[in-house]
Amino acid sequence: MAVIRLDITHAGGAYPVLIGAALTRRLDQVLAEQRLITETVVVSCPPVWRLHGERLPGLLGGHPPLLMPDGERAKHLTTVARLYDGLVERRIDRSALVIGFGGGVVGDAAGFAAATYLRGVRLAQIPTTLLAQIDSAIGGKVGVNLSAGKNLVGAFHAPSVVICDPELLDTLPRREFRAGLYEAVKYGVIASRSLFDSVSDGLPAIFKKEPAVLETLIADCCRIKAAVVMADEREQGPRRTLNFGHTVGHALEAISRYGRFLHGEAVGYGMLAAAALSLKRGILPPEDMESLKAVIGHMGPLPSTAGLKASDALDAILSDKKISRGTLHFVLPVRIGATTIVPDVTTKELKAALRTIGIR
Ligand SMILES: NC(=O)c1ccc[n+]([C@@H]2O[C@H](COP(=O)([O-])OP(=O)(O)OC[C@H]3O[C@@H](n4cnc5c(N)ncnc54)[C@H](O)[C@@H]3O)[C@@H](O)[C@H]2O)c1
Ligand SMILES: [Zn+2]
Repeated sequence: MAVIRLDITHAGGAYPVLIGAALTRRLDQVLAEQRLITETVVVSCPPVWRLHGERLPGLLGGHPPLLMPDGERAKHLTTVARLYDGLVERRIDRSALVIGFGGGVVGDAAGFAAATYLRGVRLAQIPTTLLAQIDSAIGGKVGVNLSAGKNLVGAFHAPSVVICDPELLDTLPRREFRAGLYEAVKYGVIASRSLFDSVSDGLPAIFKKEPAVLETLIADCCRIKAAVVMADEREQGPRRTLNFGHTVGHALEAISRYGRFLHGEAVGYGMLAAAALSLKRGILPPEDMESLKAVIGHMGPLPSTAGLKASDALDAILSDKKISRGTLHFVLPVRIGATTIVPDVTTKELKAALRTIGIR
């Protein structure tokens, strides 16, 4: 079967992203082709291992998998400490390959363990959620949360290979799948009208998870993330465009204590708010606002924003800014397929934008 291959270069080298249905059914062969014939240890979480562990039968080394708890709360230094202990118990040395097999939580934590254990061992990412396949597994950012906030400790540790198998998504709950799809819409808005249209027009086939459709979708998204990341490895300029929808999105996650919205859902609202702001400034054409609203509407229901307060959302947005010690750089769509970054968004504009998503 045809495999889509993208090559990502970074300061320290290059790695391929391989996209293809059933790739994880012949993983030994895939790793051998990548010259990654070495001792391996898989890091996963119980739900993913239960559903798909049989795809990784006694990979080289034959170590039992290191299973970390499921969920965002597990993306924590204590989990990483347990992973180190598991690596030591298995006598894993610097020649080994750590395989992150799960969603973004597993990928980030396993990746951080790999980045730091023995000052760094190689990493393969086998993402199992749509969000991880199109976003978190690519770009080399790994890390964990602190009580003070998300992703506050981390590293840049590029993987040796990323393997995206859309078959793994068959078992992904619809809500998780949809949450990933908001990030695909984001890529469309920031960089590609044709990707945006293919999501808008292709929702039935996408939700049916037709392998060929997903392969193309994943590849189109990965290409955009790769291009942005390669242009800007350390997040100075262009990488900021990936934050479209995330300023308000992160605030919604924080003020609902990470309990109401999946990340992608919060980004769905965040994109609508940013687009409304852009529309009001006369930057975004009204028909593009309508297209964005339509695709988000057709994707399905977002959890309600009822009860959330604009004042809390504003505080969250500003405290995000304080942590980064900078001005609030707001990514605004110029049209579907292009954005601009503005430093001068006012509280009044933010309030008006929040009102459009039901937050007063
Ligand atoms: N490193 C980066 O550049 C980057 C970028 C974006 C997001 N992230 C991080 O990614 C994380 C979110 O990732 P996520 O959305 O994948 O969430 P997740 O890892 O929590 O996975 C979501 C849920 O889906 C389950 N699951 C995973 N694969 C499955 C499958 N194939 N079938 C059934 N269930 C499955 C998981 O067990 C979990 O319960 C966040 O911590 C975020 O900070 C990192
Ligand atoms: Zn995101």
